[in-house]
Amino acid sequence: MVVSTGSNKFKAAVFISGTGSNLKYLIKFSKTKKSPISISLIVTNNSKAKGLKFANIYKIKKKILNFRDKKLAEKKILLELKKNKIDIVCLAGFMKILSKSFIKNFKGKILNIHPSLLPKYKGLNTHQRVLDKKEKYSGCTVHYVTSKLDSGKIIIQTQVKINKKDNAKTLAKKILKQEHKLYPKALLKIFSL
Ligand code: GAR
Repeated sequence: MVVSTGSNKFKAAVFISGTGSNLKYLIKFSKTKKSPISISLIVTNNSKAKGLKFANIYKIKKKILNFRDKKLAEKKILLELKKNKIDIVCLAGFMKILSKSFIKNFKGKILNIHPSLLPKYKGLNTHQRVLDKKEKYSGCTVHYVTSKLDSGKIIIQTQVKINKKDNAKTLAKKILKQEHKLYPKALLKIFSL
């Protein structure tokens, strides 16, 4: 059973591919009074995504789509977004690149979180590349999604200091902790404008 929020919050869909820790913190945030969003849909390309457990725990509708036929998958997602009257899409560890036409259909309403200080270190394997370049700082960014990978307008960022002892795993962990706070802040920022 899907419980109605009975509120006038903006309706969000969160897209995940894996662990879903950002999803978990977004759900927790969505249940606070100050949150401008409620989460009514979880979308994934990965039927084995660990984060799907949060759909069960919090009784949120989920949609699993096979991206082998990307065009069809996106068509089904768009229908689902419309059916559920979704106002905003939050990509949270969603590892598929959405097509131009999908993004056009939801223009200005798709956000993404990326584990670097964009515009630096777009794409995958971020933490190792940052360490290889001997950067002193890394961080995370919430930005609008455009058809160019990790390149849309930046909403908010947090900086994280890199220690000499950090490796890709410890750095990822430190940054992820900041991501959990940053996504809610980004939503508060865009909806208070
Ligand atoms: C997060 O660090 C997120 O920034 C990253 O994947 C992780 C997902 O963690 N996203 C990207 O790298 C997108 N290019 P989570 O599943 O525990 O939220």
